[in-house]
Amino acid sequence: MEKTFYIETFGCQMNAHDSEKVVGTLLNTGYTQVETPEAANYIFYNTCSIRDKAEQKVFNRLQHLKNSGKNKVLAVLGCVAQQEGEKIFDRAPHVNMVVGSASYTKLPQLLVQIEQGDKRVTGLSLDTTETFDTPFTRRDNPHRAYITIIEGCDKNCSYCVVPFTRGPERSRTSESVLEEARRVAGLGYTEIQLLGQNVNSYRDPSAAGWDFSALLDAVGKVPGIRRVRFMTSHPRDFVKSIIDVIDENENLCNHVHLPVQSGSTSVLAGMQRSYSRDEYMRRIEWMKNAKRDISITTDIIVGFPGETERDFEDTLDLLEEVQYESLFAFKYSQRPNTGALKLGDHIPEEEKTRRIMILQERQRAIQLRRNADRVGRVEQVHVEGRHASLNQWIGRTSQNQTLNFSGRDTDTLLGDYVPVRVTRAGPNSLVGDAVV
Ligand code: 5AD
Ligand code: SF4
Repeated sequence: MEKTFYIETFGCQMNAHDSEKVVGTLLNTGYTQVETPEAANYIFYNTCSIRDKAEQKVFNRLQHLKNSGKNKVLAVLGCVAQQEGEKIFDRAPHVNMVVGSASYTKLPQLLVQIEQGDKRVTGLSLDTTETFDTPFTRRDNPHRAYITIIEGCDKNCSYCVVPFTRGPERSRTSESVLEEARRVAGLGYTEIQLLGQNVNSYRDPSAAGWDFSALLDAVGKVPGIRRVRFMTSHPRDFVKSIIDVIDENENLCNHVHLPVQSGSTSVLAGMQRSYSRDEYMRRIEWMKNAKRDISITTDIIVGFPGETERDFEDTLDLLEEVQYESLFAFKYSQRPNTGALKLGDHIPEEEKTRRIMILQERQRAIQLRRNADRVGRVEQVHVEGRHASLNQWIGRTSQNQTLNFSGRDTDTLLGDYVPVRVTRAGPNSLVGDAVV
């Protein structure tokens, strides 16, 4: 059978980057990538199970993929694969492979089994100390290179499925991370995003024993690299030295995504986040007192079991106190195996909707205000794309804001860094003119 494959990816940046590594591995094993499921003999579907809705989508999509033609190999990867395991074969009997992210190094081997005639293969062990590093990664984004520094998660937030789907924490050696950073710099990338479910608990397994701050600083000093971002931070492990290295090294972006989940200490306790509101605010103070203007973004869950109106108001009040640059808000959704299951899910859907809408409305007002204050400023943007219809370039500031601009009529700006004066502000983005 001709080895053509199609891949579809859902979920977080870790998943997106896993797919880049899977694609690189497949290309290196002699497979050819095609753009539609119909044209492929092998279909890979990299899934997310962070919330119930994401998981339901997977089974609907698997049903659809079945209609893309007969005699294809269908592989389910990612978090739903790990979470549901062999049960996927019962719900979707046309699936041939179920492989979780902790088993991707075995993919070539598992594919050989399929080629030899096995109808169903699985890679589901979480018992691993390995990370999925590959020199073959095929990057989708020509401007920003993702680099995994730590895989898995050892926290036990009571709502979260990730420790069950991505296995225990495993850090890469600093040398291997730096080697990849130098390699992507050599390929012309100027921006790197370091990835992990909890980058702050990074611990170099080699004798150097670096912590996250040391690694961040070193990646920021790789010749050719002009911007370094990182995702995601856990407040418990977020230490002041991270702010100190950002202050001292302009190549490290002045943006921190620090998910709070709730502004109420009692809800945080129910979530087993292992910090109080005050402890979280201490980290925020470090950032507010930094020399650089650090933008802060967050994730919030509304309707966690036991969240009272008062708790919710504490969250609204936290928004005003922190003045986030932007946030992602989610309605609580029960996940299999998690600690919070025993607390039930008693807040009605309509009430969760009401809360999320109020939250988003408040945040919108904050963003409008913050962005209006930026009019007149000059920001350095990294050019990521072009809106042909608007005759505008799409840029991103170090603070991770979208700043679209006009004023340079050349077709060679992609990947460049351009100073842009902000002329207009909306709640979600800025518009400006290139400074010539
Ligand atoms: N229900 C709702 N939101 C969740 N998140 C994680 N698990 C759940 C859940 N069970 C949110 C958190 C996390 C983000 C990636 O997804 O806010 O930070
Ligand atoms: Fe989705 Fe979480 Fe898995 Fe990422 S780690 S794909 S967000 S379930």
